[in-house]
Amino acid sequence: MSNAAAPASQGADRTDSPLHVAVIMDGNGRWAAARGLPRAEGHRRGVEALRRVVRAAHELGILYLTIFSFSSENWSRPATEIGDLFGLLRRFIRNDLATLHRDGVRVRVIGERQGLESDICALLSEAEELTRDNTRLNLVVAFNYGSRQEIANAAQRLAREVAEGRRDPASIDADALGQYLDAPDIPDPDLIIRTSGEQRLSNFLMWQAAYSELVFVPVHWPDFDKAALESAIAEYGRRERRFGGLAAAKTGS
Ligand code: FPP
Repeated sequence: MSNAAAPASQGADRTDSPLHVAVIMDGNGRWAAARGLPRAEGHRRGVEALRRVVRAAHELGILYLTIFSFSSENWSRPATEIGDLFGLLRRFIRNDLATLHRDGVRVRVIGERQGLESDICALLSEAEELTRDNTRLNLVVAFNYGSRQEIANAAQRLAREVAEGRRDPASIDADALGQYLDAPDIPDPDLIIRTSGEQRLSNFLMWQAAYSELVFVPVHWPDFDKAALESAIAEYGRRERRFGGLAAAKTGS
């Protein structure tokens, strides 16, 4: 996810189906509160929504689905909630990995591994290793992820190369920095969906989102389903992507 200069679907003014959809799965807590349930139940139902959306993503021909599972800012939540979210990730990988693998899903993980418990790191690596040759759908799990940190890490690697005399500072451009982001081979998201009505990126894929279409959906994540995904994709299909250029009808010649 680094190629800011050449987004996945560049060239098409209108693209009916996005190759890469990224999702900010927001509203689990509010979904639970509205029903008098604990927040943990909202997160648990959020995992069910995630399973539905992974299935729907293959059915709709999406090749990359990136999900924001735990942000670097989520550490500010109460320890019990952090424990619940980590428990859900553990259970998701333990229970669903075989099915994901059977369905041809390749699991990728972006974000900081440092600071995570060793069993979580082992599960994330196991998921990546087992599924590395799958090609039907790439499920990119952003876990302990924050875009500013990702960009700062890339800048640090470039700075080190300069300091060691291995790089000319003049060679640092968007492509060079993009190569040091967490998943440089994955095309930028065509469509970013955020549920629950909030309208911001919250430190998610800020570099990669340069030309993404943003769709904000009023439902909370546990209620998100295939129909909601199809309707976000339909909205995407009505957008005109210009990547800084002119609309097709206005190019003259
Ligand atoms: C936002 O809801 C959601 C999260 C912080 C975590 C998303 C996690 C899941 C859907 C489940 C875990 C994922 C995996 C892969 C196991 P919120 O708590 O911010 O809701 P609120 O804004 O209504 O309080």
